[in-house]
Amino acid sequence: MKVIGIDTSCDDTSVAVYNGTTGEILSNIISSQYSAHKPYGGVVPEIAAREHLNNMEPVFNKALRDANITVEEIELVCVTNTPGLLPAILVGFTFGKGLAFAKYIPFKAIHHIEAHIFSPFIKEKEIKFPFISLVVSGGHTILTITRNFTNHTIIGKTVDDAIGEAFDKVAKMLELGYPGGPIIDEIFRSYKGEYIELPKPQVKGVSMSFSGLKTAVRRLVEKGYPKEQIAASFQKTAIDYVVGKLKKAINETGMKRISVSGGVSANSYLREKLNELQKNRKVEILVPEMEFTSDNGAMVAFLGYKIFKMDEEIGDPFTLNAYSSVPIDGVV
Ligand code: KG4
Ligand code: ZN
Repeated sequence: MKVIGIDTSCDDTSVAVYNGTTGEILSNIISSQYSAHKPYGGVVPEIAAREHLNNMEPVFNKALRDANITVEEIELVCVTNTPGLLPAILVGFTFGKGLAFAKYIPFKAIHHIEAHIFSPFIKEKEIKFPFISLVVSGGHTILTITRNFTNHTIIGKTVDDAIGEAFDKVAKMLELGYPGGPIIDEIFRSYKGEYIELPKPQVKGVSMSFSGLKTAVRRLVEKGYPKEQIAASFQKTAIDYVVGKLKKAINETGMKRISVSGGVSANSYLREKLNELQKNRKVEILVPEMEFTSDNGAMVAFLGYKIFKMDEEIGDPFTLNAYSSVPIDGVV
């Protein structure tokens, strides 16, 4: 069964073709808009929407070409409908719904965070429930206990900025460019000096906070510390902090299976720390392959197909809408 996955929730126009029957990703095209947003040091929703409008059709056509299929072979369309920048989501969502409607095939609306949660399993054969999920992205930092494809209990989340957002804002303060995560990570990897001790925010349980770290960085910038030292110290503190919260979640729940996903799961120091944790605590930690860390259509197609099967192959109604935010645990 050929499945299309579409994601336009932020600044990546992404379309993938997934063969649900064989479990193979046939193509996964991502068109990034970094240069359009770079002058602003962050994503501008209206610019994102206009860029998606320009990119949607060429990206879709390339996804079909690379997968070597025609539009007639598509049997299911899966599209992100929440959360994210609403003007941006609407471009992909309307395109996907229109495609399904025109071809008279089912469509499934997918929650972007849920799609991240299952991204480490894309090439894995088996998903064993329940597990702890840590999503670390530009818009979210959430710890859940995931019991099913659509059943999650949030056990902790950031009370202010998302971790990826903190990376981007710190990079902006240091005038390093956008998006900040990969640039700071690169600096961290080649940095050999001493780290500055930054305060770790005190938040109850496994919830987190990143805005205080940002303020601490601003002070260091004002005091004139070298950029590399500030960037590397920030990455070390932010990642140690989030890994500390994950350890606490493992201790408190006693769970041994963990999924870590989202844009920041590409971070080299985070991956190193997760490896250590896996060995020391005898837990199983799954992270996505690099191409599935940041926003991509493959994770949407993958989860959409699983939910479609679970829902006895019934598509969503075409009256379904897109939303800027819907909590994954169903609790507002
Ligand atoms: O999951 P994602 O593509 O989009 C959202 O759903 O938000 O995450 C994007 C975020 C950005 O903040 C970016 O700076 C961060 O992921 N990021 C990284 C790395 N690569 C991307 N952060 C830290 N280290 C990286 N290597
Ligand atoms: Zn994302």
